Amino acid sequence: AERILFDNDTGIDDALALVYLLSQDQVDLVSIASTPGNVSAEQVARNNLALLQLCGRPRVPVAIGADGPLEIPLVTTPETHGPQGLGYAELPAPGQAPQTGAVDRWVEAARRNPGELTALITAPLTNFALALRQEPRLPELLKRTVIMGGSYFYQGNTTPTAEWNTHVDPHAAAEVFAAFEGQPEERLPIVCALEMTERIELQPGHVERLAREAGCAEPELVWPEDPEGTRSTASVPLVRALSDALRFYFEFHRRYDQGYIAHVHDVFAAAVAAGTVDYRTRTATVHVETRPGPLVGTTVADYRGLWGRKPNAKIVCWNDPPAVFDEMVGSIAALARR
Ligand code: BDR
Ligand code: CA
Repeated sequence: AERILFDNDTGIDDALALVYLLSQDQVDLVSIASTPGNVSAEQVARNNLALLQLCGRPRVPVAIGADGPLEIPLVTTPETHGPQGLGYAELPAPGQAPQTGAVDRWVEAARRNPGELTALITAPLTNFALALRQEPRLPELLKRTVIMGGSYFYQGNTTPTAEWNTHVDPHAAAEVFAAFEGQPEERLPIVCALEMTERIELQPGHVERLAREAGCAEPELVWPEDPEGTRSTASVPLVRALSDALRFYFEFHRRYDQGYIAHVHDVFAAAVAAGTVDYRTRTATVHVETRPGPLVGTTVADYRGLWGRKPNAKIVCWNDPPAVFDEMVGSIAALARR
């Protein structure tokens, strides 16, 4: 089994990643840290709790830690994920409130289970950086670390060069990579960055396949010609929720001229953490620009040791998008049918 500590900022693709993890019998989701990013920490926690409830897993603990980045004000992104973070999806209010102390919980769980837990972070690295301050041995205590963040081979999605998660809290990202510098290769974080995650290009056909495999008779879903904001009438609640969330994400991507598709970044990172997809990595030293100005949040990778520094990351350099979708659609459909 993969025992996973999940740190997210749910977020439409975080939601899909969470549902995917819940669909995996071999994944034991130990706890969820709700990190401010796409929306506020409170809203992230509400979304996580509502999704757990929808999937019949209300007992997975959800906690809030920091309420904003380490050194700069929080900027959220309602235009990408909707004002509440789940696009057009309207989920029943969660039956419970989140816990507090996400950072302490991170550290306690890792100390109690040395070498057993996989950390998966699909959000700004704020809470993870705070956990590393509290327990500098975290890299040794964790079995594996998987991060969605950065852009190393080409452009950003938030500024011309910076990716969202590193841009929201560049100081946290810089601290996390510094903390891993010089660790043995097997302990370096596996980094899923834009050049790989933008290849995980969801299309309406994937959602329709999900609906049919989940047993919806006549799914009314997410077609490009529908007026913006049209809601799904799919009969299976999980399919309806994901479809309404993803419709917003498709519309956002269309506005940026990429067509009626959606990059579901965090799902790829979740599949890497769950050990269900193939990928290849390259070892590198990552630098995160923290100085204010046009390059803040930009990540640069030194693959050749030109800076004379030790490696601090294993950056994914190959993945197999069709295999990721086959895996994800089939697993989530099976969960929706349960
Ligand atoms: C990342 O930014 C967020 O909006 C997504 O959830 C993902 O984690 C991609 O840059
Ligand atoms: Ca995210």
